[in-house]
Amino acid sequence: MSNSKSISVSKVTRYQNAALNYYLGLTESPYLHYGYWESLPVPAVELTIGQLRVAQEAYTAKLLDFIPQNIKTVLDVGCGIGGNAAYLLDRGFTVEGLAPDPFQKERFLKYTGDRAIFHLTKFENFKATHSYDLILLSESSQYMAAVDIASCAAGILNPGGYLLIADMMRSDANYTEGMFSNCHVVAELRAALSQAGFTLVKTEDISAHIVPTIDLYVDSFRRFGLNTMIYVGDLIAIAVLPVYKLLRWIFRRWFKKLVVEGLAASQLFEKHLCYEIELWQLSKVDKS
Ligand SMILES: C[S@@+](CC[C@H](N)C(=O)[O-])C[C@H]1O[C@@H](n2cnc3c(N)ncnc32)[C@H](O)[C@@H]1O
Repeated sequence: MSNSKSISVSKVTRYQNAALNYYLGLTESPYLHYGYWESLPVPAVELTIGQLRVAQEAYTAKLLDFIPQNIKTVLDVGCGIGGNAAYLLDRGFTVEGLAPDPFQKERFLKYTGDRAIFHLTKFENFKATHSYDLILLSESSQYMAAVDIASCAAGILNPGGYLLIADMMRSDANYTEGMFSNCHVVAELRAALSQAGFTLVKTEDISAHIVPTIDLYVDSFRRFGLNTMIYVGDLIAIAVLPVYKLLRWIFRRWFKKLVVEGLAASQLFEKHLCYEIELWQLSKVDKS
């Protein structure tokens, strides 16, 4: 297990962690993923956090469907706060979690009831002491370079071991700026994994089944986030007008673009992205 106490985390990752913590507060769910909406709500239906939690459970069950029969040991890379790991532990797998976030470590150990080891490190810096049957990247691939995923996974999997990736990916390689632009281009990720000795065994595009979550997040943000901001702004304008004017200037200068983009997240996703679950198998030939 890694002993590192403080991890240097980039600004982009800190922004992303802030967003994750925001949604964690909204959902109070052990999962930090989009979930899988089995029956797709019709547009007029109001989406709820309760429905999202059902979808998140269904998503983890869907991941389980992708895990081949003979798998015993799983390294959950970018494990979040332990929802997926606990689900797999309950089904007899030996699971270890890994993430570079001390807050997640605390929540992970609590949620898994100390049944799983947690490695406080980035995957790129992980020094494994043994190999694994399967590495899971559930919505964590977008935080790492494709070549790092490929080489790190290949280095610590048993020969013939599996890599299960589930994430938002860019179907449009020309989409290079914006809130989802850190997602991998499907073809580039595939090329890096093939190059490292992996073969694609099974894949499924579940894009349509995650869109309701984006709609729900946007709707919650519009209704509660924006309205709270406007309300607080109004209070400050009444109490101390110069502070309000300064905050309004800061908002227009740095945050307005982010907010406008966030409100158009569903359209951005549908135009440039997809959501894939991909099971890859490492070559059975031991290169060591
Ligand atoms: C969206 S959350 C997904 C959490 C969890 N897998 C789930 O499905 O609920 C992304 C996770 O990736 C982790 N992460 C970010 N950068 C990482 C890196 N370089 N190495 C390993 N994990 C990383 C984050 O700390 C977080 O746990």
